[in-house]
Amino acid sequence: MKAMAEAAKTIAGMFEGKTDYDATAFKLAAETLRTKSGDALIAEFPRGSVGGSTTAKAEIDQFPDEFAALAHHVQTLAAALSRAADTAPDGITDNMRMKPGTGGMGSSLLGKRAGPTKELDPSEIPAEHVFHLMLQDCTSCHAKFRSKPL
Ligand code: HEC
Repeated sequence: MKAMAEAAKTIAGMFEGKTDYDATAFKLAAETLRTKSGDALIAEFPRGSVGGSTTAKAEIDQFPDEFAALAHHVQTLAAALSRAADTAPDGITDNMRMKPGTGGMGSSLLGKRAGPTKELDPSEIPAEHVFHLMLQDCTSCHAKFRSKPL
């Protein structure tokens, strides 16, 4: 989790312009997120291990499918970020940027859209948007499965 948090900070810093974009560092961070999420993340919380001194909640054992889905979703998005770095060796490209009206941060303000929610294909949306979706997964998982929300 600590490595994931560091990696997320690295990527956030580059999107926000606080750190110079560096494709290698961006990719390394995305790869850290990819390899530490999914099954690796799930394996950190084996059944019956939660409670006690950690802030991981018993809900992990009660809703394992939901927990796993969040862990795997982070992995899918991190893989897309990693691929985005390959296509942008020299700098953040325009099509990595979130544009007004493409959803992203705004969509949560507008609330849920009517009808069945269509899963966005992370390879077809800007990397910056993918990154924000990933942060939502961190928050969603912590909100439900961690006693101290991040
Ligand atoms: C599938 C669920 C899940 C996802 C997704 C998830 N986390 Fe966590 N995270 C947890 C749990 C559970 C804990 C509590 C761990 C403990 O206390 O043992 C935690 C703890 C943390 C901590 C506290 C330090 C620690 O090691 O306990 C940080 C920082 C953190 N997560 C960052 C992130 C970031 C950044 C992301 C997204 C890139 C993320 N997490 C995604 C479940 C998740």
